[in-house]
Amino acid sequence: MSKKLYIKTYGCQMNVYDTVRMHDVMAPLGYSAAESYEDADMVILNTCHIREKADEKVYSDLGRIRKEKDRKTASGEKMLVAVGGCVGQAEGAEIIKRAPYVDMVFGPQSYHQLPEMVTKAIRDNGGVVELDFAPVDKFDKLPEVSNSQGVSAFLSVQEGCDKFCSFCVVPYTRGVEYSRPFATVMTEARKLVDGGAKEIMLLGQNVNAYHGEGGQGGKIAGLADLIDALAQINGLERIRYTTSHPRDMSYDLIAIHGSEAKLMPYLHLPVQSGSDEILKKMNRKHKAELYFDIIDRLRKVRHDIALSSDFIVGFPGETDENFEDTMNLIRRVGYASVYSFKYSQRPGTPAAVDENQVPEMVKQERLARLQALVHEQQIAFNQSAVGKTMKVLFDRDGKHDGQLLGKSEYMQSVYVKEAPGLRGNIVDVKITAGFLNSLTGEVSYLSCERHGCTGSCAA
Ligand code: 5AD
Ligand code: SF4
Repeated sequence: MSKKLYIKTYGCQMNVYDTVRMHDVMAPLGYSAAESYEDADMVILNTCHIREKADEKVYSDLGRIRKEKDRKTASGEKMLVAVGGCVGQAEGAEIIKRAPYVDMVFGPQSYHQLPEMVTKAIRDNGGVVELDFAPVDKFDKLPEVSNSQGVSAFLSVQEGCDKFCSFCVVPYTRGVEYSRPFATVMTEARKLVDGGAKEIMLLGQNVNAYHGEGGQGGKIAGLADLIDALAQINGLERIRYTTSHPRDMSYDLIAIHGSEAKLMPYLHLPVQSGSDEILKKMNRKHKAELYFDIIDRLRKVRHDIALSSDFIVGFPGETDENFEDTMNLIRRVGYASVYSFKYSQRPGTPAAVDENQVPEMVKQERLARLQALVHEQQIAFNQSAVGKTMKVLFDRDGKHDGQLLGKSEYMQSVYVKEAPGLRGNIVDVKITAGFLNSLTGEVSYLSCERHGCTGSCAA
């Protein structure tokens, strides 16, 4: 029987991938994607636990969904409500205690069991909690990936983390580090390319720690080996990976940024802080100097590489001087984009119980100063593109009617006027303006691979 499933995704790209895979798992049961929770027979909140704000959002959304469920129940319809993802893993049965209208709770490693959970929830009228913690099991049991991701696809190759940064919940919500076998990743990549993907983003909480069994010659494959093999796939034109740890930036991975044209000149390499003292307290296991060394080496092999990072301000014990070290690191590196956060106390993590918590006002001020600096760098980077011709992969509608949005090789969002032959293709675009978060451009000539035409493509 045909049913509708609505999944709301919070948090990181790994959750976006998991959402796609949950749809794959539920499709054989007759569930297709709903546009909104109002249209749905089942709602899954695929949640994020990384910061307090992400957590709170889940409960406020649940409040709204409850009203819809009540309305449906009153008119004799059924609606299953599930909380999956990292809040599910972290809070488990507590969620059902706090919100009894939630029928199912599960974590990021157990969604392959959704069909069984749904059967149980219908039979027992809710109360299902499934917090299994074995990624091997999940990847073995998931159905083949569907062709539904389009020209730009996500592929999870690694999950979990063994680094135990003192602020982070990931080792507790996603578990220990696990790499999918080389052959399985290659099969999934080929399937995605057959389904139209021209770009693949390799995902992992700590993706550059990838060490997949069964690489060439039976060896363990590192991320550079995987990128090298993926680059041989005809039709795949762009490879990216995220998110990485400086400690796992091996020399062969740095080198492949210089030698493999399909690997895009953009790297998200979070450093979190520029202060050695704070890095130590964060248990990052490296000093700022290692980070600078990696950046220098990367720029030697790929001078135009665009860099991005995550920063946490107001980590417990962070002094003004420590914060200035972070500002100086940002000045020295120069970023194309930055994600910055006020430190958020996460239950169960070591830093949460540190007595030297930084006052909210101080965090706020530091965040504002840091963001002002990175915004300057971001605008300068985007404006330096003006007048240049860039290769852009167009994969979605722009904000306004008649507009298309794509990504430059450096991960910038580029808006152009929609024209035939652009969507789904990599096209040369002359950049006309650069802003804080985007570029605009004109298609200098239309050359789409599908039609092989230069000049105006009327298809
Ligand atoms: N508080 C603030 N930011 C955090 N991050 C992870 N944990 C916390 C926390 N407790 C940030 C880090 C990480 C990104 C995904 O989220 O910068 O790289
Ligand atoms: Fe959030 Fe981390 Fe879970 Fe991703 S893995 S959803 S960032 S808590």
